[in-house]
Amino acid sequence: MRITALLSALCAAAAVVHAVPRTAQIYMQPIPSSSQAPSPLAEVSYDPAALSFSSVISYDAPEIPPAARLVRIGLYDAKARAWTSGTTVAAADNFSKGYSPNIVLSTDGSGTVVSVSCKGVAIDAGQTRDFGPKVVVLPETRGKQPQLNKPVVLSPEGRKVEPEQEKTFLQKYWWMIAIAVFIALSGGGGGEK
Ligand SMILES: *[C@@H]1O[C@H](CO)[C@@H](O)[C@H](O)[C@H]1NC(C)=O
Repeated sequence: MRITALLSALCAAAAVVHAVPRTAQIYMQPIPSSSQAPSPLAEVSYDPAALSFSSVISYDAPEIPPAARLVRIGLYDAKARAWTSGTTVAAADNFSKGYSPNIVLSTDGSGTVVSVSCKGVAIDAGQTRDFGPKVVVLPETRGKQPQLNKPVVLSPEGRKVEPEQEKTFLQKYWWMIAIAVFIALSGGGGGEK
């Protein structure tokens, strides 16, 4: 009885440690018909701890008015009526027949989506049978940082000045220790009389 209770507690703890998969609501807005509110394009599930296991939960092929040549794509909060991530623009042709949508999400260190883009990849029926929409979630990584050397110190004459080395404790106080040892050796003998 106790062991099962312990096991279930352990399992609960493990579930908390393992990051909960998140969902992202991707919306699309035709341009230049900015009067038209963004409409849902896809819902994507991803796990910040295991980005390669992301998947497309749902996908709505968008209805793009013929006048619109471009579309804006990003995460959108329909209640707040605001884009909640960086948006990108793609040609409306990316969503026409014969193209399979490939969605790319960029996430920051905390797993929050920073930007969304989508591109139609031409379907080559001879090569693949998997025509469905795909999602790739990529982490934002920091670029290589430059390694800076210590600044060069010049004297008023323009010569290079070597900084003074910090002395160690022993280098500074060896003479005090020597005196203490000397006193201990010479004075200590007095007590034995
Ligand atoms: C998809 O959109 C990009 C960016 O606008 C564009 O360069 C590309 O030609 C489009 N692809 C198709 C198949 O229309």
